[in-house]
Amino acid sequence: MTTLTIRRPDDWHLHLRDGAVLNAVLPHTSEHFGRAIVMPNLVPPVVTTAQANAYRERIMAALPAGHDFTPLMTLYLTEATDAADVVAGFESGAITAVKLYPAGATTNSQSGVRNFENVLPVLERMAEAGVPLCVHGEVTDPSVDIFDREAVFIEKVLEPLRQRIPQLRVIMEHVTTKDGVDYVSGGGDNIGATITTHHLIINRNALFMGGIRPHYYCLPIAKREVHRLALRKAATSGNSRFFLGTDSAPHVDPLKESACGCAGVFSSTNTLGCLAHVFEEENALDKLEAFVSLNGPAFYRLPVSEQMVTLRRYDEPVAFPAKIETGDGQVTLFDPMFAIHWNLEH
Ligand code: DOR
Ligand code: ZN
Repeated sequence: MTTLTIRRPDDWHLHLRDGAVLNAVLPHTSEHFGRAIVMPNLVPPVVTTAQANAYRERIMAALPAGHDFTPLMTLYLTEATDAADVVAGFESGAITAVKLYPAGATTNSQSGVRNFENVLPVLERMAEAGVPLCVHGEVTDPSVDIFDREAVFIEKVLEPLRQRIPQLRVIMEHVTTKDGVDYVSGGGDNIGATITTHHLIINRNALFMGGIRPHYYCLPIAKREVHRLALRKAATSGNSRFFLGTDSAPHVDPLKESACGCAGVFSSTNTLGCLAHVFEEENALDKLEAFVSLNGPAFYRLPVSEQMVTLRRYDEPVAFPAKIETGDGQVTLFDPMFAIHWNLEH
């Protein structure tokens, strides 16, 4: 197969940042994707519908002329979140989901949730109103091994929470383990999961190939090979519970190449090419559209894109830049360590 025509993809988990970085990275998404769930972990975080509306306007102002892109806004859940604002924001279409960060789990998560009891009333209102909850599924207890934090979160936090509020619609964001895949596969209609491009491609060895490799450091951290293989199987299976969320998360190089580097992999530019490569390797190109264009809208109860795009397989590798320029410095693009032959046809 040398071309693949599919509904226009969406990205169900994306960091666009703000200011100069927003301006630089947004075109890399809006060129490829019709919609994206935009993460609210700015500094300060997006916690009210009014702030989400203002952020949407900044995103739309940064959109290149001629690009057709809809940011789907999210609110950052805190222990002080106003349920009425969430429900009104959702019902008006201003917001699409709420994001739960356990406090301390990742970049700019310090305003997140410390005591899950304190957010139960908001989550109950969200369940009644059908507002999806996007979850960063890792415990923050420093005594839990970093490679086990997702599995422990499922057992200690997520499953008890879903027992208490079974109607709550949950997206386990950037699932990275076989445990997560199994949990979502067997978890009924109210749970789905996003999978990133990079977790389909790297395992934890990538972090330490001949030295420390900060551009492969993200959270949740890449796990053992057995987990990567489980993610590949889930993504390429066609199972409607699994859909693409790139978690493309730009940080300028000095913030990553540092004694205490930030977590995040920037992949918007070459994500579709990487995914076509992965699905081709798995003999599952016929399942790519489900993963990138159909399953996400189905879970979010949104229409699929009316637009079609064509991915083409080129004989020669496609040239992607190693870094992109922003007004604040360079951002390194995800290197999948294979030549990419697929790209969107323009
Ligand atoms: O690697 C990550 N980067 N994981 C997250 O959860 C947050 C993100 C970011 O905002 O940089
Ligand atoms: Zn993220």
